[in-house]
Amino acid sequence: MVKLTPPMGWNSWNTFGENINEKLIFETADAMVEAGLPRMGYEYLVIDDCWSLRERDENERLVPDPGKFPNGMKAVADYVHSKGLKFGMYSCAGNLTCAGYPGSFEHEFIDAETFAQWGVDFLKYDYCYHSPIIHGQYLYRRMGLALENCGRDILFSACSWGADQTHEWIKTSAASMWRSTGDIFDTWESVKDLVKQQEKLHPYNGVGCFNDMDMLIVGMYGNGNVGLKGCSDVQYKTHFSIWSLLGSPLMIGCDVRSMTEETKKILGNEELIRINQDSACRQAYKLQGIWAGDDMLIYARQLENGDLAIGLFNMSEEKAVARFNLDEVGLGFSTGKTLEMKEVWSGESIKVKNATVSRELAPFDCEVFRAKVVDL
Ligand code: GLA
Repeated sequence: MVKLTPPMGWNSWNTFGENINEKLIFETADAMVEAGLPRMGYEYLVIDDCWSLRERDENERLVPDPGKFPNGMKAVADYVHSKGLKFGMYSCAGNLTCAGYPGSFEHEFIDAETFAQWGVDFLKYDYCYHSPIIHGQYLYRRMGLALENCGRDILFSACSWGADQTHEWIKTSAASMWRSTGDIFDTWESVKDLVKQQEKLHPYNGVGCFNDMDMLIVGMYGNGNVGLKGCSDVQYKTHFSIWSLLGSPLMIGCDVRSMTEETKKILGNEELIRINQDSACRQAYKLQGIWAGDDMLIYARQLENGDLAIGLFNMSEEKAVARFNLDEVGLGFSTGKTLEMKEVWSGESIKVKNATVSRELAPFDCEVFRAKVVDL
């Protein structure tokens, strides 16, 4: 299946881990619709690890845990589809999944067929317990082929965390997104770490196969499976802004049944989602900036209609100034042009003077602009 913009949806892992069941999934589907998430683009509801029994059946098929999913997976898929959402599941390229349930190794075609029969639209494919003698590229190509030939459109979401130089071969599989980082945790340090891991990988993002910086922690506030210290709302706002601007898939990880107003506001920023889903899917790039320390990140990206998206991210606990010269985005004084920039959180508009942008940011805060090229 070909997906032309970064996938969006919800995944059970960050908050629920192994504590998943039919009731939770039905309530989540209801809550996603009630919050208007599908309208904003969040279309996939994905069940992560821990959904099956520990053994396959006598026909080598995976079996949903009847204690968690008493009516089987087709019933879950039907309910999710009845809400206008698409349904995602999880497996692994190894003998076991990361949590120790049966993986799809040497069962790729039979599992793809099973997922298709259940009505699955999305498969996250992990990399734990894989064979040490078969390189990942062959395992992901194999499942990619199995999905492409299973008779149903299933989005292939590769999750090998960037291991074994994933960026060099992942586009030879049928993957529409690939985990370019290790696992996220609900702390500011984890967000900073993943952003850093991503820096060398910007050139590998692009139409049809998106760098996946992992599921969002927005709105977790330290609760749930990967909840540690938690983050503040301003940190969640900056986390969401970076993921959006860099073109990562946007998979919500909090409990959507109990989102705060601030969480809804962050996840529902339409301008940012429009930037994230921009049809050109061009590579984002880092600006050097002027006197920018390691904790002041400036990223830009050319958009489909000639606009630029520009983000200023203060990753530190002190207020700081973000400065850059328009030469870095391809403009400059001699062009006779400048930028008219509209900030996506405050709505503030500014016209850049003297080819220099200079903005003060509160601790952990950010500004993201959609900028138009205009006459000086
Ligand atoms: C790995 C993945 C996570 C999650 C867990 C499930 O750690 O990277 O996103 O799927 O496995 O066990």
